[in-house]
Amino acid sequence: MQDHPRIRSLSVQGFRSLADVSVPMGPLTVLVGPNGSGKSNVLNVLRFLVATIRFDLPTAIEEFGGWSRLARQDGKTKAVRIVVEAEVTANAHANAPDRYKLSISREGRTRYEEFTFKRKSGPGRRITVNGVTANIGTTRADSRGRDLKLADEQTTGLSTLPKLAADAGGEGIDDFASFLSGMRVLEPDVAAARSPSRLYRASLVEDASNLADALLTLRETAPQSFSDIERDMRACLPGLDRLNFTTLPGTRSVVVQLVERGLEREIDLTEASFGTVRLLALLTALHDPSPAHLTAIEEIDHGLHPYALDVVVDALRAASERTQILVATHSPTLVNRLRPSELVVCDRDSKTGASKIPAVSSYEISKATRASNLGLGELWFAGVLGGVPK
Ligand SMILES: Nc1ncnc2c1ncn2[C@@H]1O[C@H](COP(=O)(O)OP(=O)(O)OP(=O)(O)O)[C@@H](O)[C@H]1O
Ligand SMILES: [Mg+2]
Repeated sequence: MQDHPRIRSLSVQGFRSLADVSVPMGPLTVLVGPNGSGKSNVLNVLRFLVATIRFDLPTAIEEFGGWSRLARQDGKTKAVRIVVEAEVTANAHANAPDRYKLSISREGRTRYEEFTFKRKSGPGRRITVNGVTANIGTTRADSRGRDLKLADEQTTGLSTLPKLAADAGGEGIDDFASFLSGMRVLEPDVAAARSPSRLYRASLVEDASNLADALLTLRETAPQSFSDIERDMRACLPGLDRLNFTTLPGTRSVVVQLVERGLEREIDLTEASFGTVRLLALLTALHDPSPAHLTAIEEIDHGLHPYALDVVVDALRAASERTQILVATHSPTLVNRLRPSELVVCDRDSKTGASKIPAVSSYEISKATRASNLGLGELWFAGVLGGVPK
């Protein structure tokens, strides 16, 4: 297994614009492509997987607006299929990744699941879930396995089978379920991030609405990470001295403040600029010393000066040693700082509306980079790699 668990590929069929895609994922993966090409839908697949672990299937589908909002509306899609290949369980490696397949049909009333993972010795473990029957078997073609009755058809094995005994594969499923349920798709809501937060000593939530709590918790529990955040903020914001906290009188709510040179009093986050608040939220997530196993971030460049993106890329790269990172961006400046293998170009078939991901192979990207003096971002922006509106 890797230093930290990670997804190697996410294959999806029939989910919104993702008619049939297979997204390769490394420690740091950056999605680019025109508006409506399916970048957010890739992130939404991760969110949906998390929902299938937290809730039963009908509830997870409802969270996404019901079957007609979840499944591809092309008049022929009958099922949504998601396959995750990953290195999560103890014996997984690049050539023998863990595999989880979820297939949902009959408008969400039927699900089929298949888990495959390597064991220390002997054939791999294969567990299938169909209706109310789970079959605990092996990858040997002639193995029949043993059947187990499940309570209902509406809950995924991913959420119930971690309770299986370790030697029946429960441990592997448990590892997998904890990995997937711990994924975080960060989409900072700047208005919410500006507001005071109660002290729960929590890490940053997906909309960054507990920014003050998460930052103060970092200052208390991980002072080095907190001072790295201050350093990065100072590098992007001329005149910033440091961050400060204040508790609102008569409450347990805390507010973040900026101490800026030339001003008589601190500036509350409610008074700070849009980009300042958003940058602070991103850095708080990226400098978290014990993050979720996978952190996805929507529109990472939104509101940020191109120079600030340099700081963000360095923070992304450092964070990718602790958590797998998947981000969507429209910024050539950010892409200029990437390696070819980190870029996934998304396109959209103008006739069918189906996403093409990846629109160009990593090999072709490397080849184009070698043949040109342009940076990777400029190559993409010029249309050489696809992923631009035609
Ligand atoms: N149920 C569905 N069936 C088919 N296509 C869908 C469905 N739901 C959404 N889409 C398509 O997915 C597109 C949105 O894709 P997505 O939000 O992933 O784009 P994006 O690449 O993130 O774009 P942006 O850069 O604007 O954020 C919609 O424009 C629509 O064409
Ligand atoms: Mg989007």
